[in-house]
Amino acid sequence: MTPPQDHKKEPVQLLNHGSIAVIFIDNPPVNALSHAVRQGIVSCLKAAETDNNVDAIVVSCSGRTFIAGADISEFGQPALEPHLPDVLAQLDECSKPIIAALFGTVLGGGFEVALSCHYRVALTNTNLGLPEVTLGLIPGAGGTQLLPRLAGVEIALQMITSGKAETAKKLFEHGVIDLLVEQGPINPGETLLQQAIVFAQNIAKKGEKIRRVSEISIHNNEHHSELFDQWRKKLAKKARGQNAPQCCINSIENAVLLPFNEGKKREREFFITCRDSSQSVAMRHAFFAERRAAKLPAAYDKTQNVTLLPIKQVAIVGAGTMGGGIAMCFANAGLSVILLEMSEDNLTRGLLAIRKRFEQALNRGLIDHVQLEQRMSLIVGTCNYEDLSEVDLVVEAAFETMAVKRQIFATLDQVCKLEAILASNTSYLDINEIAQSTARSHKVLGMHFFAPANIMKLLEVVCADDTDEQTLKTVMALGKKLGKISVAVGVCYGFVGNRMYSCYGREANMLLLEGASPDHIDTAMKNWGMAMGPLAVTDMSGIDIAYKARQENPALKQDPLYFRAADLMVEAGRLGQKTGAGFYRYDSDARTPQVDERVLAVFSNEAKILGVVQRGDITEKEIQNRLVFALINEGARILAEGIATKASDIDAIWLNGYGFPRHLGGPMCYADEIGIDTVVEGIKLYQQQGNGLYWHTAQLLEQLIVSGEKLSQQ
Ligand code: 3HC
Repeated sequence: MTPPQDHKKEPVQLLNHGSIAVIFIDNPPVNALSHAVRQGIVSCLKAAETDNNVDAIVVSCSGRTFIAGADISEFGQPALEPHLPDVLAQLDECSKPIIAALFGTVLGGGFEVALSCHYRVALTNTNLGLPEVTLGLIPGAGGTQLLPRLAGVEIALQMITSGKAETAKKLFEHGVIDLLVEQGPINPGETLLQQAIVFAQNIAKKGEKIRRVSEISIHNNEHHSELFDQWRKKLAKKARGQNAPQCCINSIENAVLLPFNEGKKREREFFITCRDSSQSVAMRHAFFAERRAAKLPAAYDKTQNVTLLPIKQVAIVGAGTMGGGIAMCFANAGLSVILLEMSEDNLTRGLLAIRKRFEQALNRGLIDHVQLEQRMSLIVGTCNYEDLSEVDLVVEAAFETMAVKRQIFATLDQVCKLEAILASNTSYLDINEIAQSTARSHKVLGMHFFAPANIMKLLEVVCADDTDEQTLKTVMALGKKLGKISVAVGVCYGFVGNRMYSCYGREANMLLLEGASPDHIDTAMKNWGMAMGPLAVTDMSGIDIAYKARQENPALKQDPLYFRAADLMVEAGRLGQKTGAGFYRYDSDARTPQVDERVLAVFSNEAKILGVVQRGDITEKEIQNRLVFALINEGARILAEGIATKASDIDAIWLNGYGFPRHLGGPMCYADEIGIDTVVEGIKLYQQQGNGLYWHTAQLLEQLIVSGEKLSQQ
């Protein structure tokens, strides 16, 4: 919405349109409810309410969206009056009708503002939601009391516990929106404001009793205690270890059981407990870490206003699982893709596999038939490199061997236009070396997608020595377009994520030789909060993949214990799920791991040969600490080397690529939470216990203990 002519720097203004007053909020970028905005709303509301010429009030916003929530950056600071619930109580209680004019993303406190108004007018493409639970919070300004009153308990449970937004169209059907407005052809915001003013004039003319959501009573038959218990059970499983979802359910139940003001009071208590919890601190850290990742460090950001290269057509080399997933990513974002394979057979197989995966999305209701066909039509196959001459970007997703990659890049360099960016999806290999096989090393970088590439949010953008700023910035912006969290990282074996993962995996492998079972290790890590245990993950992705990658590592450890357990599995042909056996066996259901006693015998036998003493006293805590401290220690090294330029980038990588529990904020944030001295003590203990080859405290950790600074702030 365009700011009006008399727009000044105040974040909230009162504008008059005849007998309708407009409370106009202008607090870029997303009109968050900062202290100044809350103050502005209160004073404008007071002025409008006491002005005899005003019959009704419209709440409207400037910019790209109606209010997208409370100002999250204020949560760690002392709360200043007026508090949001008090502001919203004033809207609710106002003696003149208030109409919210909604567009963009109406989220959290923004949705609560809308629910506290008496009527809601929205553009059809508006999204509305209460995402507080994703920040370890519950809606704290009436959301859990107002939404069930207006939309019913079921919708409130769904929306508030998932944090997912719904469209205005859907919420119109549930009585949340009173009028839907089609987006105007020229200035959608203006159209909306005009319609909201007309709506307000009509309401004022009718002079009916004001409809306050707080006064709607919820029918008692909507309260089945079993319904709430079912949700508690479901969420205890789905959001394992998280407190906020349970608080959301309890608070929604209060909406049914208690008068509005009492329910709201309890909601506030829940909110404050959640806000001050370490889980919410971690999840807010995660929110900002993901956004900070887009901001490049000074070394990568020397030139202002770099013109980004237009990326309209891309090519993918390799139609395997990874290449297919990457092709889907681009097609999902509306870009046309040429998929290159070496043989017609492989190409046909690859295209069929892509169709199958789109069909799975169709069956899950994520896309419709038209979208499926549209996306498939964007992907064309070829076996001819010459067809890549006009593409703007190539992503190579072929075999993970340097010789193959070098040859592919040399060919691409010959056939592709000079401006084309050449990217490798390698998970480990040296991008600098790959770049040297071209005459355009400034246009070469890594785009490391995570499997399944069409679903996983993470994209490591690997900046090689020669990669220029235009190339890097173009790919970072492209990542955003693909819906990815893009994190710029430097070159080293495994980059950030896999280099750290190899330390985590190393400890899991050591523990197998020392007598812990795969199930013991995986259960410990799941209990700690990881989405999956490390050995079940390896079985799923194929134990041979990391095995081959280790063979390609020029600095592979010569230690006979290093990943010995995994190597034994590969040598025995147990490659994981795909061969029906790996660290586990897979019987009738090819995906459910079953404990296999035989592997324990293999490990204990090998332990004897290698002189490793097997212990029966390995605890869950030891497993968790060894795996997680190994991660933290390597993360600190990566940071000191500048491979990651911010600790929060490491957290963003682990949260979005490796199933690290969001309520623990990422490995760097978690280290701060438990104390860096605790981590260092653990590292020293494991060093004394005989694992001196790997357990050396990263210098940065020692320095931070001395300076008292936080790791996650580095
Ligand atoms: N508070 C403070 N800053 C916020 C913010 C918020 N609620 N929402 C977004 N921002 C900032 C971002 O940090 C970013 O800042 P930067 O440019 O300096 O990095 C900027 O706004 C733009 O954000 P995005 O990059 O995310 O922009 P997008 O266009 O991709 O997305 C959005 C916009 C959908 C609004 C997304 O930012 C979002 O989901 N925001 C969070 C919404 C939210 O969680 N609201 C609930 C807050 S808690 C609450 O309201 C409690 C209440 O119940 C009491």
